[in-house]
Amino acid sequence: MTVKICFVLAVNFAYLAVNGNLVNGDRTFSIDYKNNCFLKDGKPFQYISGSIHYSRIPRYYWKDRLVKMYMAGLNAVQIYVPWNFHEPVQGVYNFTGDRDLGHFLDLANQTGLLVILRPGPYICAEWEMGGLPAWLLEKPNILLRSSDTDYLQAVCNWLNILLLKVSPWLYANKGNIISVQVENEYGSYHACDYNYMRTLQKIFRNLLGADTLLFTTDGNTDKEMSCGSLQGLYATIDFGTDANITTAFQRQRRFEPHGPLVNSEFYTGWLDHWGEGHAQVDQWKVSKMLREMLALGANVNMYMFEGGTNFGYWNGADHDTRFRPVVTSYDYDAPLTEAGDPTEKLLLIRDVIKEFRDVPAGPMPPATPKFGYGFVTLRKVGNIASLLNTFSPQGPVKSQYPLTFEEMKQYYGYMLYRTKLPRELREPTPLISPLNGVHDRAYVTVNGVYQGMLERDTTLVMNISGKQGDTMDLLVENMGRVNFGSQINDHKGILGDLLLVSDVLSNWEIYTLDMDGAIAGGWPHSEAPQSPPVRQKEPSAGPVFYMGTLQPNGLAWDTFLKLNDWSKGQVWINGVNLGRYWPSRGPQQTLYVPGPLLSTTQPNNITVLELERAPDTPRVLFMDRPQLNRTTGRS
Ligand SMILES: *[C@@H]1O[C@H](CO)[C@@H](O)[C@H](O)[C@H]1NC(C)=O
Ligand SMILES: *[C@@H]1O[C@H](CO)[C@@H](O)[C@H](O)[C@H]1NC(C)=O
Ligand SMILES: *[C@@H]1O[C@H](CO)[C@@H](O)[C@H](O)[C@H]1NC(C)=O
Ligand SMILES: *[C@@H]1O[C@H](CO)[C@@H](O)[C@H](O)[C@H]1NC(C)=O
Ligand SMILES: *[C@@H]1O[C@H](CO)[C@@H](O)[C@H](O)[C@H]1NC(C)=O
Ligand SMILES: *[C@@H]1O[C@H](CO)[C@@H](O)[C@H](O)[C@H]1NC(C)=O
Repeated sequence: MTVKICFVLAVNFAYLAVNGNLVNGDRTFSIDYKNNCFLKDGKPFQYISGSIHYSRIPRYYWKDRLVKMYMAGLNAVQIYVPWNFHEPVQGVYNFTGDRDLGHFLDLANQTGLLVILRPGPYICAEWEMGGLPAWLLEKPNILLRSSDTDYLQAVCNWLNILLLKVSPWLYANKGNIISVQVENEYGSYHACDYNYMRTLQKIFRNLLGADTLLFTTDGNTDKEMSCGSLQGLYATIDFGTDANITTAFQRQRRFEPHGPLVNSEFYTGWLDHWGEGHAQVDQWKVSKMLREMLALGANVNMYMFEGGTNFGYWNGADHDTRFRPVVTSYDYDAPLTEAGDPTEKLLLIRDVIKEFRDVPAGPMPPATPKFGYGFVTLRKVGNIASLLNTFSPQGPVKSQYPLTFEEMKQYYGYMLYRTKLPRELREPTPLISPLNGVHDRAYVTVNGVYQGMLERDTTLVMNISGKQGDTMDLLVENMGRVNFGSQINDHKGILGDLLLVSDVLSNWEIYTLDMDGAIAGGWPHSEAPQSPPVRQKEPSAGPVFYMGTLQPNGLAWDTFLKLNDWSKGQVWINGVNLGRYWPSRGPQQTLYVPGPLLSTTQPNNITVLELERAPDTPRVLFMDRPQLNRTTGRS
């Protein structure tokens, strides 16, 4: 196995060594162990950095956000590369459009920002499966983040693509990447496999050359620091405003007795989960602690500086005592909001930075303009069962027992599982998920009539009724794979048999559903007659599609979409998947709609998949401000 991996790399290493020598020149970024600092071109250097995730911000706003970070006084940005964003199918790579990493690195370079690159392969980041591609789970018992042969081979193939791609931006090659992190908080993972870290170190070293500064980042405990760090990779720590700076940096010192102090993730805010409170971190605590760290000469990266949005299906989930999916917004209470707007927290941070270095002259660029376009009434398109030809033209796969999303090679979104009732159920009869194997929610209809819902860890039994031979459909939603901890092998779909009382349900027809493909192709607006919307008298229960149009008014300004009184679902605008809404769980109440998605001249096409129950008056509201806390009405 090792031979196979290193054979591939040896070739690339030879190639790089030649190029490296040609372009290296005087540009160096290294560690001064004597004076406990970084050295940039031989001079002491302290970075003040902020995290920004290009995968959570549309490409057309990258420059705007980077300029604001530069104007705040930062000299570096720290970025994650989500592997699953770039290799959606094994061996198929995408580095274009919103996934154009090279363009992002160019913009940062043009803006005058250095880059701290965090290519994983695992990134956590509250991102689907911590950035790992779900196709890895096609080997059912794969040991992720370990020396597992198949895992390492996939990692090796990916890093050969990625690290060679970024090598023109390495600092020594006239680019802006000053350091590269290996893995991510590996010490928080139960495996603690030093051979895995050594293999990664070898791959990174071979592909990036001897001159590139490699480091690790781990949580603020001895166990995390010892399982996550490795001789030859500079060990850094991460902590937020709850920590004691002295103790935390003393801990880093136990692992790196000399060299710069580095807090790789200083938390400016925190994430939200569905059904929990809205997180906020006090701006005065953040600015005070930043001042203290900078006064010590420490290097600080603020996580996040601009959080952005989990568009589409990209949110991750935690799984400690139960499954806790992350909301669509990744605002994070960061110094720049989800929509990229400067906050008071940002201005306080800039004032602190001013105490230590010159910040660029001139005003902070303003917030992008926002507009409340008002209400749009929607009309019903049809329920899922009536749309299978549109979403699944190839038809179902027949299987005696249910197959997972990974077995069906549909990694994200929704799939439909269909079977027939084996007998008459005159009384409400329990449908049971005995092994908690519905990942993550199943919306159940019998002959098109909605019966209710099963939910992972929460609702394992529901009642259904019907006649023998009736069609039972379960629309199963992947709510985002676990991104942290020991449960990251998070298969989706129906993972074990379902029971009707004690009878195993069998003879399934399983439909993969390409909703996003159909909607990106213009459905349903391209097919529907251009009649005015019809009001629905009856509220619709169960998974139903709705459509509507926001008439153009000459503006394409940012806006926030509120689905008051809707239950739970997914929204697209002009074919782009904005993410999930779930106002009843909250705390998030509005979805961010980037202005450039809107047309100033064409009708803007809104498509909604409501999973449980639409309101009597199916309408949505475009507001001029976000609402991320259920109870305050604004945030
Ligand atoms: C690559 O990603 C971009 C941005 O998400 C997308 O527009 C494009 O369709 C993708 N390309 C392919 C071939 O899937
Ligand atoms: C980064 O920008 C500098 C000048 O601003 C330029 O000389 C250099 O070629 C750029 N690097 C890359 C990798 O584009
Ligand atoms: C942090 O810890 C140090 C050493 O344990 C202690 O002296 C100091 O008082 C603590 N600081 C705060 C703010 O609690
Ligand atoms: C199912 O129906 C039975 C009989 O009506 C009732 O006692 C039971 O509470 C119901 N169970 C659920 C989960 O709704
Ligand atoms: C909305 O759909 C209609 C019908 O297919 C199409 O003509 C129009 O261009 C779409 N609007 C936008 C902004 O794409
Ligand atoms: C959210 O709203 C509740 C109720 O008004 C309030 O107690 C809480 O402080 C708010 N949370 C945040 C982070 O604003």
